[in-house]
Amino acid sequence: MAAAGFSLRLVAKRTRMLAGNRADFKEKSALFAVRCARNSVNDDAMDDSLKRETEKLIKSWMQYDEAILRDYLVEDVEDPRINVQSILTRHFLIDALFGDRFAALMEHELRFGMVMNWLLKLAKSAVGTEDFQAIHHALRQGADNAEGLLIPQFVLQTFAALPAKVGKTVVPNYLDGLLSDAVSASEKPALEARNLAAFEVLWQEALQKEQRQGISVLEAACGSANDYRFIHAYGLGGWLNYAGFDLCEKNIRNARVLFPKVGFAVGNVMAIASPDKTFDYCFAQDLLEHLSVEAMELAVAELCRVTRQGLCLGFFNMHEGEDHVVRPVDDYHWNTLSMARTRDLFEQLGFAGQMVHIDTFLKWRFGCEETHNKNAYTFVLSAQC
Ligand SMILES: C[S@@+](CC[C@H](N)C(=O)[O-])C[C@H]1O[C@@H](n2cnc3c(N)ncnc32)[C@H](O)[C@@H]1O
Repeated sequence: MAAAGFSLRLVAKRTRMLAGNRADFKEKSALFAVRCARNSVNDDAMDDSLKRETEKLIKSWMQYDEAILRDYLVEDVEDPRINVQSILTRHFLIDALFGDRFAALMEHELRFGMVMNWLLKLAKSAVGTEDFQAIHHALRQGADNAEGLLIPQFVLQTFAALPAKVGKTVVPNYLDGLLSDAVSASEKPALEARNLAAFEVLWQEALQKEQRQGISVLEAACGSANDYRFIHAYGLGGWLNYAGFDLCEKNIRNARVLFPKVGFAVGNVMAIASPDKTFDYCFAQDLLEHLSVEAMELAVAELCRVTRQGLCLGFFNMHEGEDHVVRPVDDYHWNTLSMARTRDLFEQLGFAGQMVHIDTFLKWRFGCEETHNKNAYTFVLSAQC
């Protein structure tokens, strides 16, 4: 069963192991990069079939141009500013650092993500700028019908609650700005970058006043710094001793161009080149479905091995059936993982927590029926010892 009462609080631990002060971070990241660079496909921990699978995975991901790899997973519904799983990953890190002090701002950001996804879907459909004008007018009247177009309750509630004061932070009425901007440019409405970035400014302001030591964090399959770009932009990067690795060298080249001083390295999740319990927290998005079951199980064991405190894992293709559905596609996999089997695997390795079915969570918490991927789950797990 998917967890209904999701709260990142369950994951945060009162007794956190600290990773040293921020000045140490660059040095540690550099060490990690060296270790990862030495990590070769022929690692002894892997049998021949996993070495062959690794070669095929490299071929699969290296076939794309660097420019495509840099952009395609930060666009549209994958844009980490509005993608609910990316937002939850940032909240996982914020929670690990600062506890529940920012719960109200997190709630506003989740609402923002849902509303933006609804508008994005509309903007891509047949609606024109006049429809956005009608929506804006209806919202100001508190009406749920914009000349025949039904406005969901969660959008109305969000609009009515803005602007909102959250501690010292004011969440502006971003919908006012967005709906005006979207109609000014052309016949087709579009979501402007400055509106998509509304929470970037809010988190920067909120976090810059904080005093705390940082945490060490590993991201597996970091792509071209797809999520890290926003972890950095939202003012979280300075709190993290972050290391990211990916099997695809082109991704790592892109990541290093964007962040020359951050510890990005080529590496394989089946053989993470770090000692046991190196990192306070690990996270990964949209990786494990692309591996064979054997490789996925080894990857999970590796993630658990190097993590001291907590894991946040995004899945794009999971179901509530008892068995994994294995689907090889070309040189990699597009599996549908069993939530229960995957949960049990983590439990056997000492990590338990919440399995959040994104669709159920958004319906239950916000009455939002608009999830773009009904198969998406995020696991938020903590070490049980
Ligand atoms: C669908 S992409 C997701 C990228 C990023 N996590 C995101 O959500 O935008 C899958 C990524 O997994 C990487 N990958 C595939 N197999 C891997 C492995 N065995 N070890 C590390 N990374 C791997 C690919 O190179 C690719 O960047």
